[in-house]
Amino acid sequence: MKADFRELVQSHVDRILEETIEPLPEEIVRSYISQLVERQMDFMALVQRHGSPLYVFDQQALQKRARKLQRAFERVLPQVSCFFAMKSNNHPLVAATLVEEHFGLDVSSGTELHAAIVAGAEEIMFSGPGKTQSELTLALEHADRVTMLIDSFGEFERLQAIACDRHTPIRAGVRITPPTSTWRKFGIPLEELLPFWEKAKSSDFVHLCGIQFHSSWNHHPTNQIATIQAIGRAIRLWPKSLLDQITFLDIGGGFWPPQGEWLLHKATRQGKLLSFLEGAADPIEGRCLVPATPIDSFAEQLATSLEENIFDLVKCRICIEPGRWICNDAMHLLLTVVDKKDKNLVIVDAGTNAIGWERFESDYAPIVNLSRPAETEHPCQIYGSLCTPEDVWGYAYWGEDILPGDVLLVPDQGAYTYSLRQYFIKPVPPVIPIK
Ligand SMILES: Cc1ncc(COP(=O)(O)O)c(C=O)c1O
Repeated sequence: MKADFRELVQSHVDRILEETIEPLPEEIVRSYISQLVERQMDFMALVQRHGSPLYVFDQQALQKRARKLQRAFERVLPQVSCFFAMKSNNHPLVAATLVEEHFGLDVSSGTELHAAIVAGAEEIMFSGPGKTQSELTLALEHADRVTMLIDSFGEFERLQAIACDRHTPIRAGVRITPPTSTWRKFGIPLEELLPFWEKAKSSDFVHLCGIQFHSSWNHHPTNQIATIQAIGRAIRLWPKSLLDQITFLDIGGGFWPPQGEWLLHKATRQGKLLSFLEGAADPIEGRCLVPATPIDSFAEQLATSLEENIFDLVKCRICIEPGRWICNDAMHLLLTVVDKKDKNLVIVDAGTNAIGWERFESDYAPIVNLSRPAETEHPCQIYGSLCTPEDVWGYAYWGEDILPGDVLLVPDQGAYTYSLRQYFIKPVPPVIPIK
């Protein structure tokens, strides 16, 4: 092996080993579990009435989140509108509930747009790359409530051609790629914002009046702030006549839910390195916490940055498009143990097709045995009943014991699990609202 290659590998390994990983404190998990166990009777009654497996929809939890988020941003921003990113949970009751809470909806396909109209949304943001002719046409048919967030120069041309053909004006914004992001597929580079604006400003039908960005997966607002600063620097050079055309800035979603990210150690860079070097590491070995900034502080920091970088130039409305922060705890899964194959190996009645991806190979969701609740966690491989090995719910349960017929709760599965469900071998569990 060449010496410089060895040194390169060594320096990467050193850097990974130096990363601080915060362990997930057990008291946090214990108090989280005890709140869920308080609702044991309600959950058990649902299974008795509707069978198992089930998705439970908690409308009150959703309303509570919606109100908290609105309050956090309305407290610090003079003009703000909240849009729910439908992709994070596409159940119609979720959208309908949020529309009642005065949310607009953020959609990324014709299917979502149709669902948003059915849900009665008064204002809809349509973002996303590669919108088709039929999606653009559908948006124009609802131009009274849709704002198009244009993803490229080509999309502007396509939208303009159809709008012109139909003689239908439509409001629009343009999406920029956050300078902190490597995801080139979304939006246009910030350097092209001015040429884009110059090109689109005189369109008779596409009324460009806003800028959008979305930065994903933020435990704290650093990336969003960096993007707001970059937009401020860019538009500072614009003439007043152009600045006056900006009526909204959509700063996307990407706020991490308050409990932070709960990960298995093997999903961290150190864990991955270890399992690569030593073979599969023990999956029960350690859970980690990536803390998240509380939403009030998130909103305050973003508002300060907007004040410093944007509002001295443009007093525009701020739009936000959160998904996971709103709906994460609006759905839970209830499963039943079908088979106990060993003292630490059970099979439950739902497969991970219900959540659409191998989520619990990396994320930690405590599994609560509602039939025998206890404040202790026991190692146990909990598999789904799909005829494939990639079907794991978790590596431990909270309870006294685990036996066939026991009802298990997998909490907080409202974000990017229900939406990603798929029919694969087993059907998708039905959704039952809880009072
Ligand atoms: C354009 C856009 N807005 C908002 C969101 C919602 O993000 P989150 O659920 O992380 O808040 C997404 C998610 O991918 C998105 O693509």
